[in-house]
Amino acid sequence: MRESDRREYWTRRLREYDQGHLLAAWDDLSPDRREALLESLQAVDFDLIRRLYENRGYKPEIGDLLRNATSPRGPRLSDRADAARRRAAVECGEEALRGGRAACVLVAGGQGSRLGFEHPKGMFPIGPLSRHSLFQIFAEKILARGKRYGRRLPLALMTSPLTHAETVDYFERHERFGLGDDLHIFCQGTMPAVDATTGRILMARPDALALSPDGHGGMLAAIHRSGVLERFRQEGVRHLFYFQVDNPLLDVADPEFIGWHILAGSEMSTLVIAKQTPLDKVGNVVQVGDRLHVVEYSDLPQDLAVRPGLDGKPLLWAGSIGVHVMEVDFLARVADLAEALPFHVALKKMTYYDPETRTIVEPETANAVKFERFIFDLIPHAENAIVIEAAENDQFAPLKNAPGAARDTPEYVRDRMAAKCRRLLREAGCETPGDPIVEISPLFALDSWELSQRLPRGTRIASPTYFGPEGPIAVDAAGGTQGAG
Ligand code: UD1
Repeated sequence: MRESDRREYWTRRLREYDQGHLLAAWDDLSPDRREALLESLQAVDFDLIRRLYENRGYKPEIGDLLRNATSPRGPRLSDRADAARRRAAVECGEEALRGGRAACVLVAGGQGSRLGFEHPKGMFPIGPLSRHSLFQIFAEKILARGKRYGRRLPLALMTSPLTHAETVDYFERHERFGLGDDLHIFCQGTMPAVDATTGRILMARPDALALSPDGHGGMLAAIHRSGVLERFRQEGVRHLFYFQVDNPLLDVADPEFIGWHILAGSEMSTLVIAKQTPLDKVGNVVQVGDRLHVVEYSDLPQDLAVRPGLDGKPLLWAGSIGVHVMEVDFLARVADLAEALPFHVALKKMTYYDPETRTIVEPETANAVKFERFIFDLIPHAENAIVIEAAENDQFAPLKNAPGAARDTPEYVRDRMAAKCRRLLREAGCETPGDPIVEISPLFALDSWELSQRLPRGTRIASPTYFGPEGPIAVDAAGGTQGAG
């Protein structure tokens, strides 16, 4: 088709959807740029965008769904009261790790806008002393887990077009932190963002739509599309340990969690913590009939959030920390759902290009509606879904906010990482007088048992110390020298 015909076709088509402004700067564009713009238009499902925008104020009647909901109970990690069952779960998880039946999936496609860091969040130098990045810490956890069980663990790492190139480059510059061919980086899809008052698709540049990642629920389609899921399947992987990029406290690929999941015959399991207050900003895991659901805090009516149970404590106590184990076969079984998962809307502030005035607009208030899918909307489709409870100070300290916020800041996360390391040292029979800042590389020890193998009982750690892969290094100032670069 000639260029003029294509333009005419698109002018007509866009007018039908009240999106004619997308071609307003056409005459300014070179042939190449016109081609790029038409290609991005080709990828848009305009009917879907219209439908999503028209329904943006509509929240499914979750009140009804939740009226009879409770938070499900499940096993607690490291529960001393149930030592025999716990042992069985650990052994089952260890067997899966030894047999190469587990792999990790890290979702790192988000924008992390609250943190105000200019790079992918995974590059943030979070190590309390080493200043190692989130990515390095996770890579070391995965390598160490593989070493412990004599079988390397693959990692599927999801980026988005916003984080992809920089993430790939970062891992290449650092020799993939030792993960080699076991690292599979794949990129999620995008959705156009629309103007909140008109529903018109926003533009980033004269030749490009303003696209944003399609939510971590985009993982389902992207891991299929990339071929990574099929590859895992062929390699005999059956269980995927899924986690978010912001939580360095997490025990990645914890055999106990994997074991409980396998023993329950669960298709998708969720790690939860007891919420500290009913209105905590976490997803709520609820049980309705024999199905589990996650209801985001923003969707949970306040009267239901504070409703007490028989013991006087809030009935809905289980906060999701965005960590799951899922069956590879389950993801294959629900592949068709990838396009049926609901979209959630978020109102955000977004700089955009106005093709009519040919200017970049920096709005003062939230102006854009973004559409995202959430991976946890798969849970009601999973058979035998369970929750596993963890202690917050063991497994959850997410990096979300810039310094100055009340919690989830870099300082908050580093404090909790150091506190966990001190606890592990004490469990291993060491002393930490004066609570110095300590950091333990996963390549030195993954847990208190490994620590007890490497450090004589009674070892005193009284000053800031980084336990690197080779051994302890005293650090004189509170802070290391290595940055994100
Ligand atoms: C999320 C959960 C919340 C949970 C909390 C725990 C949602 C909607 N909410 O909140 O229930 O209690 O974590 O920390 O998930 N990501 C992508 N692609 C995207 C969007 C996000 O890969 O398009 C990744 C991010 O990089 C991050 C993770 O998903 O690793 C979570 O995203 P984020 O937006 O930070 O979730 P929260 O709103 O903090």
